[in-house]
Amino acid sequence: METRDAELDYYIIYGPEPAQILATYTQLTGRMPLAPKWALGYHQCRWSYESEDVVRELAREFRDRAIPCDVIHLDIDYMRGYRVFTWSPKRFPDPAKLIADLKAAGFKVVTIVDPGVKYEPEADYEIFDRGVENDYFVRTADGKLFHGYVWPDKAVFPDFMRPDVRDWWGELHKSLTDMGVAGIWNDMNEPAIAERPFGDGGEHIWFPLDAPQGPDDDRTTHAETHNLYGLMMAKACAEGLQKVRSGDRSFVLTRSGFAGVQRYSSVWMGDNQSLWDHLEMSLPMLCNMGLSGVAFVGCDIGGFAGNATAELFARWMQVGMLYPLMRGHSAMSTAQHEPWVFGDRTEQICREYINLRYQLLPYIYTLFWEAAIAGTPILRPLLYHFPRDRTTYQLYDQVLLGPSLMAAPVYRPGVEHRAVYLPEGTWYDWWTGECYHGPTHILAHAPLERMPLYARGGGIIAIAPVRQFVGEEPLESLKMRIWPGTGEWTLYEDDGHSFEHEKGVWATTNYKVYFEGEKVIVEIAAREGQFLIYEREVTVEVVGVGEQRFTDDATVLRLTF
Ligand code: GLC
Repeated sequence: METRDAELDYYIIYGPEPAQILATYTQLTGRMPLAPKWALGYHQCRWSYESEDVVRELAREFRDRAIPCDVIHLDIDYMRGYRVFTWSPKRFPDPAKLIADLKAAGFKVVTIVDPGVKYEPEADYEIFDRGVENDYFVRTADGKLFHGYVWPDKAVFPDFMRPDVRDWWGELHKSLTDMGVAGIWNDMNEPAIAERPFGDGGEHIWFPLDAPQGPDDDRTTHAETHNLYGLMMAKACAEGLQKVRSGDRSFVLTRSGFAGVQRYSSVWMGDNQSLWDHLEMSLPMLCNMGLSGVAFVGCDIGGFAGNATAELFARWMQVGMLYPLMRGHSAMSTAQHEPWVFGDRTEQICREYINLRYQLLPYIYTLFWEAAIAGTPILRPLLYHFPRDRTTYQLYDQVLLGPSLMAAPVYRPGVEHRAVYLPEGTWYDWWTGECYHGPTHILAHAPLERMPLYARGGGIIAIAPVRQFVGEEPLESLKMRIWPGTGEWTLYEDDGHSFEHEKGVWATTNYKVYFEGEKVIVEIAAREGQFLIYEREVTVEVVGVGEQRFTDDATVLRLTF
């Protein structure tokens, strides 16, 4: 290997198992903090839900139609003329009231924040004025303020390499969180800049490569830090939110990042299109992110640019149910892309798969916890669990959500059957319970209502009742779906929103399943940790064998089926 500039450091990580490599790699680059549980629910976004009335109507539709949703994103039009950290007085006259009303209905609000600060020397725009006064914006090598063009037209850019700039920027989020905003979406932070007013077809430009960046005692140039811009913006945002929403976990989303971005933010894959190919590409992209230590990732469901057909949208919602970040989003001047705009049949499919997402939340939340403590991907290519099976190496159109659930989605119109590879072991059809022995290929029947899903023999999945939003009701009953075989799984729980888990206020319950002669045994260990769970009803279903119910009082139990 050779480099053109200063030295590169190489790290060689020994596995050999992918899980071991990821654990070591994330020891080096960091792991994600545990996300607030609501961020695992369904997010609805559009460029833009452009006024308070439109947002209220959107929220009402979700609740009236009983389609679960936790988060509404506000894209750039909530701002006054795209000035960051402002609200449009015309479109959003009373954001605090709007957000409080949405909160009462179980919604969280996430607002977009771009790095470009409108260049406005004469206008009394606080953010610009303070930034210039304190010399927070990137300058060229000869000391001139660098500017480019982005949504607010002429704009300047904070130097996020500097800790004082990050502190300033982080605290600016208070103007949003004081209104009740619970998460921040960082966009255009590659940074994406044009040489002429946006929309004029200008070239994309960079900061000059010799532009100085970083603090005085560690000065470098843009050439060295270009790829860190998004990461450092996300860091400024996450650390700022920690301060200004101190008791509560926040949600951060970024488009740009670098190795280690998982410490600060979730990531989405940027502007995809409403194309079958883009649906198909989404899973391998997200799996690659997971293998790169970034577990909390998603793609825009339905496609960002262009118009989805009903069929594409239905298939995309099925796949989106598997995305660690489940967000529907669409661009300006495209047709509406909410789950109900494609007619009853598509709406029903969306409802069913979003419901399934919510039912799987105890399982998915546990996967987030594993990502937080061990760097484990949430969405996994098959090779992650079957590293000795060469057939899995090129297999990009099937995916594992955690260790026990495998999906083989459909990515083409008019297709109702597809080949599915089942690696070594026993596999059960999620919907019918039919049992298969791998390694084998099968032909799955997948009418539009059905995304082929399989559970692994010995798999253990915790299922909650459907909720319209994460905190709607406490979890008074839980179902453990267990597939015959040998397996073990630990359920993780905590309050889902505070930092108490960092002080030991969490609960884990270990489940084991195995055969004893003809019988299936399920062993439940005593619960560990200090998080208090009131006695609750747990149903253990050994799929195809039987069901038993017990009152979960945190003690040891052995069930025979
Ligand atoms: C960028 C983002 C997109 C957003 C748009 C307007 O294209 O990737 O998600 O909607 O900007 O803010």
